[in-house]
Amino acid sequence: MMKLFTLKSLLLLSFVALLSSCGETTTTASSKETKKPSLKKVFEADFLMGAAINDGHINGTDTIALKLIQKEYNTITPENIMKWMYIHPQPDSFYFEMADKYVALGEKNNMHIVGHTLVWHSQIADWMQEVKDSVAMAKYLEKHINTIVGRYKGKINTWDVVNEALNEDGSYRNSIFYQVMGERYLELAFQLAAAADPEASLVYNDYNLWKPKKRAGVIRLIKKLQSKGIKIDGIGMQAHYSLVGPEIKDIENSIKAYAALGMKVMMTELDVTTLPNPWDLEGAEVSQNYEKFEGDPTMNPYPQGLPDSIQVKLAQRYEDLFSLYLRHRDDITRLTFWGVNDGQSWLNGWPIKNRTNYPLFFDRNFSAKPVYERIMALKK
Ligand code: G3I
Repeated sequence: MMKLFTLKSLLLLSFVALLSSCGETTTTASSKETKKPSLKKVFEADFLMGAAINDGHINGTDTIALKLIQKEYNTITPENIMKWMYIHPQPDSFYFEMADKYVALGEKNNMHIVGHTLVWHSQIADWMQEVKDSVAMAKYLEKHINTIVGRYKGKINTWDVVNEALNEDGSYRNSIFYQVMGERYLELAFQLAAAADPEASLVYNDYNLWKPKKRAGVIRLIKKLQSKGIKIDGIGMQAHYSLVGPEIKDIENSIKAYAALGMKVMMTELDVTTLPNPWDLEGAEVSQNYEKFEGDPTMNPYPQGLPDSIQVKLAQRYEDLFSLYLRHRDDITRLTFWGVNDGQSWLNGWPIKNRTNYPLFFDRNFSAKPVYERIMALKK
């Protein structure tokens, strides 16, 4: 912890030194550009700042988005292209074209590169769903992790090794991996990743990690891995939140609990939905399918733009979150938004399709929303 604190202090000093030296140089168009405030510069002494990116950003076809990513962020996560069904579509074949481009983009821009995600029950290849034998599954996991982590050894800095392995009550999710291998699959995944790239930072990533029972499940998992001498470096709290929940205190209790076990904490999938969700409705069961809400205007109240009153609420919510993150800057290493602009967010299609949501810092024209200045002002 001390080491981290010292590093952050040094970074802060160098940042201040850099700012004063910048003040002495002649102003040119390009130095003006680099001096423009950005999330990565303003929070340089606190956290890495990043976004999840997609095909258009990686291929460079979405040029405006790419410029914004390069200006604002020093870390990237692939929103979809490294998921099992895309990268390992058949038992003996891998598809690396997009992942190679993704890693090259991160290297070119000196970014901290995240790999997302090695083992997740969702978006898994169909063939893997058919594996019912634990020895065969362990072999496939070995091949999957060795091949992918090995290919990007020394390039991908952090791996989401296992994603969403727990239920809301902290018990193990009955995924295909758990059904066939039991909890051993988690241990094996972390062991394999550590062996394939000993320098990479290895993370367990999940949503709703502020919930006390789920928190207890994560704590059990960390302790189990640690007791067996298996490397785990961090906990990714996905941070898909709403304007009203969860409570800051609950998030804070989880940050403290994970840090107390020596974990680095990352907010890996940050966004704040501005729309009503089915489970806010009285009597709505979460297990219901949500198709019946499609096209319901009460569930999509701002198709023409976010009203000022909600912009204010969004800015306040993010301010509360960032104030919390800054209080725990010694334990939190990275904040990654789940998407680049509002139009590209997955929250326009989930949990109800075809809605207009506003969960991020940049609007559909890539302009910074009021929340951006509000958050930057926290460091003034
Ligand atoms: O690739 C197909 C494409 O061929 C097809 O034309 C199109 C039609 O709908 O679908 C495409 O696949 C979609 C894929 O995203 C890529 O765009 C899937 O339907 C869609 O379900 C998938 O959603 C992603 C979801 O994970 C499931 O993988 C979201 O974009 C992505 O934001 C979301 O990210 C997850 C994190 O990985 C883990 N934590 C939760 C988070 C939000 O669910």
